[in-house]
Amino acid sequence: MTRFGLVIIAVAFYGASAEKVFPDSFKFGAAGASYQIEGAWNEDGKGPNIWDTFAHIPGKIKNNSTGDVACDSYHKYKEDVAILKDLGVKLYRFSISWSRIMPDGTPYNINQAGIDYYVNLVHELIDNGIEPVVTLYHWDLPQHLEDLGGWLNPRIADYFGDYARVVYKTLGPYVKYWITINEPSTTCNAGYGQGAHAPGKDLIGDGIYLCAQNNARAHAKAYRIYETEFKQQYGGKVTINVPIAMYYPKTTSSLDAEAAERTFEFNVGLYANAIFKSNWPQVVIDRVANRSKLEGYSFSRLPEFSQEEIEYISGTYDYFALNMYTSNIVEYADEGEISTPTIWLDQGTITSADPSWPKSASSWLNSDPPGIRHVLNKVQEKYNPSEIVITENGWSDTGELDDQKRITYYKEYMSNILDAILEDGINVTGYTLWSLLDNFEWAEGFTQRFGIIQVDFDSPSRTRTYKSSAHWYKRVIQARAIVD
Ligand SMILES: *[C@@H]1O[C@H](CO)[C@@H](O)[C@H](O)[C@H]1NC(C)=O
Ligand SMILES: *[C@@H]1O[C@H](CO)[C@@H](O)[C@H](O)[C@H]1NC(C)=O
Ligand SMILES: *[C@@H]1O[C@H](CO)[C@@H](O)[C@H](O)[C@H]1NC(C)=O
Ligand SMILES: *[C@@H]1O[C@H](CO)[C@@H](O)[C@H](O)[C@H]1NC(C)=O
Repeated sequence: MTRFGLVIIAVAFYGASAEKVFPDSFKFGAAGASYQIEGAWNEDGKGPNIWDTFAHIPGKIKNNSTGDVACDSYHKYKEDVAILKDLGVKLYRFSISWSRIMPDGTPYNINQAGIDYYVNLVHELIDNGIEPVVTLYHWDLPQHLEDLGGWLNPRIADYFGDYARVVYKTLGPYVKYWITINEPSTTCNAGYGQGAHAPGKDLIGDGIYLCAQNNARAHAKAYRIYETEFKQQYGGKVTINVPIAMYYPKTTSSLDAEAAERTFEFNVGLYANAIFKSNWPQVVIDRVANRSKLEGYSFSRLPEFSQEEIEYISGTYDYFALNMYTSNIVEYADEGEISTPTIWLDQGTITSADPSWPKSASSWLNSDPPGIRHVLNKVQEKYNPSEIVITENGWSDTGELDDQKRITYYKEYMSNILDAILEDGINVTGYTLWSLLDNFEWAEGFTQRFGIIQVDFDSPSRTRTYKSSAHWYKRVIQARAIVD
C-alpha cells in the first residue's frame, strides 16, 4: 500500500513538472520604444516631438537627462537584433517615432530616411527569424500636433489616421501584430493630468477625460483604416494596449469590493471599455456626472460619445494586449468634499501597496506574482478576448549586472502566466518583456533600469552587456520552461 502510494505520488509529481512547459503557440519576446532607445533626435530629417521639447527643459527629468542619444539604437539596431537572435526570442516589440517619418506629424512631408530606418529594422528582424510587433504611438507626439492641442484636440484622430495609413502602407506586408497606442492611461494621467510627462499639462479634473476620449477615437480610426484598407491583403491584427494592475479589496466588506471594482474602471475601464465593450464604464459616467453637478457644472466633465461614435469604437480589436507589472490594495473612502475637481475625487477610493511586497527602484512597482494570473483571469472574464499578448512586464533596479531580484520577479511572474495558460485555459500567445535594454525611463531619466541588457550611457559607443537575467532568459527560451 505504502509503496503503491509512493509510486502514485512520484508519477503525479513528475507529471506536474513535465507538463509545465510553455505551449508551442506561446512566443517569447522583448520590447522597447522609440524615444527611450533610438537617440538621433535631430538626425536625417526627424522633426521635434513633445519628449524632445520636454526633456530639454531643465528640471523636468532626473539629472536633466534627455533621450537625445539614449541607447543610440538608431545607429545600433543591427547589434540589438543580433542580441535578440542570440537570446532566441521570436517577437520584438518596438515603436515608430511619428516625427521621424512625418516631421511635423502631417502627411504632406514624408521623411524617406525615417521610413528607411524602420524598413531596414523590420527586414533585419525577419531575416533573423524574429517577428516585429509594432506600436504606432508610444508617447512621442510630433510637436506641431501638440501646438494644435495634442490629445485634447478631437482632430488628433484624423492626424493619427493619416499617420497610421503611411505606416501600414510601408510595413504592412511584414507586420502581423499592430498596437495603435501604448498605454493611453499613462499619456492622460501623466502627460495631461499631472504634468510629470510630456507635454507637462496639469488638467487632472477635465483634460484627462478629453485625452481619454481622443485616444479612443484615434485608436478606432487607425483600427478602422487597417480593417477597410489593409486587412484583406495583409491579414494582420490590430489592437490598443492597456496597462492593468491587480486591485485587491482591502477587506472582505462589500464596500471594499465595490471600491476595488470602481478603481479598476477608473484606471482600466476608462480606456478599455469603449473599445472592448461599449461606451465608458457606467460607474465612471455616474460618478463624474454626479460630482460635476455638485461642483456647479451644467454638464459632466466626462465628455459623451455620440451613438455613432460608440458603434464606431466598439469592437476595434483583434487581440488583447496588456502591460502588467504590479498590484494595489484598495479601500472604500467616504465621499470627498466638493473642492477642486480631480479624477481621484471622482474615483473616491484609497489605494496602497501591501508592505510585504518586494519593492523595485520605481515607487509604483512592487512584486506580487499572483497578481498577473488574477489580471489574466479578470481580462478573460470581463472582455473575453480570443487571444492575449502580454506586451510589457518587468522590474526596475539601479542597473546592477548580477540582477538576481529581476530574475526572481520574472521567474515568479512567468510561473503564474504558465499556470494561467495551463490551468485556467487563458490563451496567452506572446510575451514581450520590458525591456530588452536599459533605457531612458521618462521623467526618471536613467535612474531606474528595466533592461535585461545593460547599456553604458557614459560611453559614446553605448556598450551593451548581458546581465544575469539575460543569460537566464536565454535558458528559459531554450527549455520553454522556467529554469533556475
Ligand atoms: C538641471 O539644470 C538646471 C538649470 O540649468 C540646474 O539649475 C540644475 O541644477 C540641474 N540639475 C541637475 C541635477 O544637474
Ligand atoms: C448620484 O447621485 C444620485 C442622486 O444624488 C444618487 O442617488 C446616486 O447614488 C449617485 N450615484 C453615484 C454613482 O454616485
Ligand atoms: C489562441 O489564439 C490563436 C491566435 O489567434 C488561435 O490560433 C488559437 O486557436 C487560440 N487558441 C485557443 C485555445 O483558443
Ligand atoms: C547624471 O549626469 C552626469 C553628467 O551628465 C552623468 O555623468 C551621470 O551618469 C548621470 N547619472 C544618471 C543616473 O543619469
